[in-house]
Amino acid sequence: MSLEKTPSETCVLVTGGAGFIGSHTVVELLEGGYQVVIVDDLSNASEKVLDRIAQIVGDEAAERMSFIRADVADRDALEAVFESFPIDRVIHFAGFKAVGESVAKPIEYYGNNIGNTIALIDTMRAYGCKDIIFSSSATVYGDPDALPLTEQSPKKFCTNPYGWTKWMIEQILMDTATADPEWNVVLLRYFNPIGAHESGLIGEDPKGIPNNLLPYVAQVAVGKRDCVHVFGNDYDTPDGTGVRDYIHVVDLAAGHVSALAWMNGRTGCEIFNLGTGTGTSVLEIIKAFSEACGRELPYVIEARRPGDVTANWADCTKARELMGWEATRGIAEMCRDSWNWQSHNPDGYGE
Ligand code: UFG
Repeated sequence: MSLEKTPSETCVLVTGGAGFIGSHTVVELLEGGYQVVIVDDLSNASEKVLDRIAQIVGDEAAERMSFIRADVADRDALEAVFESFPIDRVIHFAGFKAVGESVAKPIEYYGNNIGNTIALIDTMRAYGCKDIIFSSSATVYGDPDALPLTEQSPKKFCTNPYGWTKWMIEQILMDTATADPEWNVVLLRYFNPIGAHESGLIGEDPKGIPNNLLPYVAQVAVGKRDCVHVFGNDYDTPDGTGVRDYIHVVDLAAGHVSALAWMNGRTGCEIFNLGTGTGTSVLEIIKAFSEACGRELPYVIEARRPGDVTANWADCTKARELMGWEATRGIAEMCRDSWNWQSHNPDGYGE
């Protein structure tokens, strides 16, 4: 049952808390006074993140953070976490997230992402913890009929197994909240998170060749890659390149703290878009990053990437009106912070 509690009384389990969005959210939670327990198997994250988080928030706040290295699908490990800590609410980030890889490895993606969610919510139920925030994605909207996307826009066909796992986990959580009115579920649909913490101490550290635009552009800027490959310039957009709603990861992280405060003492299931409400093209991103790093970044136009939609951006009115949350950082700050992270950590966390 969802009890109303102050942040200092609230113990939040953050699955995948060492990852890109997870680590930035942990910083905001610690700064907001919460107790935080990170469960992460470090399959796509570095333990160094924990020291960096501590550096950002300071020793006193860092004392409110615990780390357990475990796979969320490991029920024994999860039970041990619930035995050891008085978990009040869960923010569930842990999951595989590479779109292209998910096409090649559907069984792994469905097995891991859905399997770990089932293990998590089953364990939560056993311990009477029924408050969860799920890390969903604008990918569930598929190819939109109309923009901006509101939470009422239809969920459509996804173009890859990764997207379907988000789609299906949303459904599982909605059904769970319908079956048992004690559940308190918040589905956060992220648009395109980029940027890094202003300190330059934490950021995105993709393994291998980055799939996403921003980490790729950042690696071109730092000299690790020759030029940006622009996937298509014949879309029906002002400059022909794909348009997305890029959101600063720190704004996104703050959205989770707002959601925690909003869900306090509630039950049911609510969906929120987390974006900025503004669309930016691939060429505009390259230009903004060039300004941030102080040199013209080279690019070549390539064929469209299969599965990409022309454009999407969010209507975030609901998050503003209900949770009082709004993104405040623009593209220039996103590129500045991404560059600050990349230039100070050219090899990410260096593993
Ligand atoms: N793009 C390029 N070159 C690149 C990479 C991307 O031109 O090297 C273009 C894409 O075609 C697209 C835009 O840049 O137009 C953004 O692409 P990303 O791969 O950065 O992001 P996506 O919008 O494809 O996907 C992101 C997340 C997904 C999430 C989705 C939700 O990566 O996890 O947003 O809409 F599901």
